[in-house]
Amino acid sequence: MAEKLILRALAGETLPTPPIWMMRQAGRYLPEYRATRAKAGDFLSLCYNPELAAEVTLQPIKRFGFDAAILFADILLVPQALGADLWFETGEGPRLSTVSRAQDMMRLKPADAIHEHLAPVYQTVKILAETLPPETTLIGFAGAPWTVATYMIAGRGTPDQGPAHALMQGDPATFDALIDLITDATIAYLLAQVAAGAEVVKLFDSWAGSLKGVAFDKYALAPTTRIITALKAKHPDLPVIAFPREAGDKYIGFARTTGADCVATDAAVDAEWAAQNLQKDGCIQGNLAPHHMVTGGQKLIDETKRIVSTFSNGPHIFNLGHGITPDADPKNVEAMVKAVRG
Ligand code: CP3
Repeated sequence: MAEKLILRALAGETLPTPPIWMMRQAGRYLPEYRATRAKAGDFLSLCYNPELAAEVTLQPIKRFGFDAAILFADILLVPQALGADLWFETGEGPRLSTVSRAQDMMRLKPADAIHEHLAPVYQTVKILAETLPPETTLIGFAGAPWTVATYMIAGRGTPDQGPAHALMQGDPATFDALIDLITDATIAYLLAQVAAGAEVVKLFDSWAGSLKGVAFDKYALAPTTRIITALKAKHPDLPVIAFPREAGDKYIGFARTTGADCVATDAAVDAEWAAQNLQKDGCIQGNLAPHHMVTGGQKLIDETKRIVSTFSNGPHIFNLGHGITPDADPKNVEAMVKAVRG
């Protein structure tokens, strides 16, 4: 049997204390992250520098003793590997060249052409697989096709994913071709991460909540199912975590339908409800609201303990409901870890 706590939880084991890690655990709230990013030059240079990317991946493990390390990279490296321009505007976020018609698709590369561009990421995984403490699980990841498509179509983050919905309605052939291309590239990318040493993979569908009804089935469920099926065809025992953020009722059955071993729940999901409706299908990850990492105090301790106790009758990985924010206080992270581990 697997020794690592995260792998045991993902295999369906109910543990006396849930293993723990945090989305965006290597990030700007840590002074040592900001120092290494400055050494690299900027965020993207850090992503493509295997030694420094491995270093920042390990920083939160050294500081807090988390049970998992998540590869330091970004979901938008895949569009860049497909030929999109990508840059980050300081204080604002990502910017990309846009896909808004069939001709824009022709400028993109085929899915299997991504590996040369992404070779430094695979090298980061390799370094991590060789240097992580034996009890720490290495998580690889990618964005889910819908979420990646929303950035490729709009050229930036959008509050309502309007441009992506408009293309889906106005030019479904181009939209479907883009989803298919990202799906194929994601399969190739994640298989390469696993070959380099990733033990678990996570799919981030951060904007799944804006897909309703049939669109959710077609563009959140179906691509995720296709990715997980392809991964498991080569690696039947590879655990997969799916994060259909803000999917609401659509969380029900998501793991069963897609083949995911675990669903990550956002902070809007009621833990009591998730324990009843989701945990019977496998492991739950989540779901402390990230603002507690800023505000701290007794509320942080009470909320942490409530979530641990609500999920204690089934497999659970403790995490936040979304990424930790730059204004978080590392002391609050320490307090959370202590509250989980008792
Ligand atoms: O979780 C981890 O620590 C692993 C690394 C990781 C990053 N981004 C590093 C990052 C992961 C898993 C991601 C995923 C990601 N990236 C998502 C999905 C998860 C989510 O948060 O919803 C999305 C939508 C992106 C795209 C992205 N990257 C945006 C919108 C931004 C700008 C917003 C922001 O927080 O600044 C980024 C930048 C980014 N990705 C940073 C980090 C540490 C901050 C960049 C910096 O250091 O300046």
